[in-house]
Amino acid sequence: MIKMTKATLLAATLLFSTAAFAGAEEGKELFEEAKCMECHNSEDFDNSKKVKNFHQLEGRVQGCQLNTDAGWFDEDTHDVATYLNETHYKLKK
Ligand code: HEC
Repeated sequence: MIKMTKATLLAATLLFSTAAFAGAEEGKELFEEAKCMECHNSEDFDNSKKVKNFHQLEGRVQGCQLNTDAGWFDEDTHDVATYLNETHYKLKK
């Protein structure tokens, strides 16, 4: 049995809430590190005719990150999709 003290509970809660808010910020860093803009310019994301909802956006991000050696986890892909959505797509989640 893991002993849960008030302090560990508090720490866990803090960590969790930080992660929830970090999404777009984390995504920005990942996006810049992965050099996505070597192929893209921001117009690709502003005038998209292909992406109609957030799920499709995540799928596109996933497809492209697999073609690079970014090696993102699903959370990373989600963060980058969140970042692109906030800065360009403005799709409802
Ligand atoms: C080697 C070139 C290349 C790189 C690097 C690349 N992409 Fe792409 N990306 C493409 C191409 C080509 C398409 C269009 C594919 C299609 O329309 O079927 C695309 C499409 C997309 C779309 C959908 C655009 C739309 O129509 O709305 C997103 C989002 C996207 N890429 C994100 C990324 C992200 C994030 C990265 C960085 C991990 C990345 N791409 C890196 C070539 C690239």
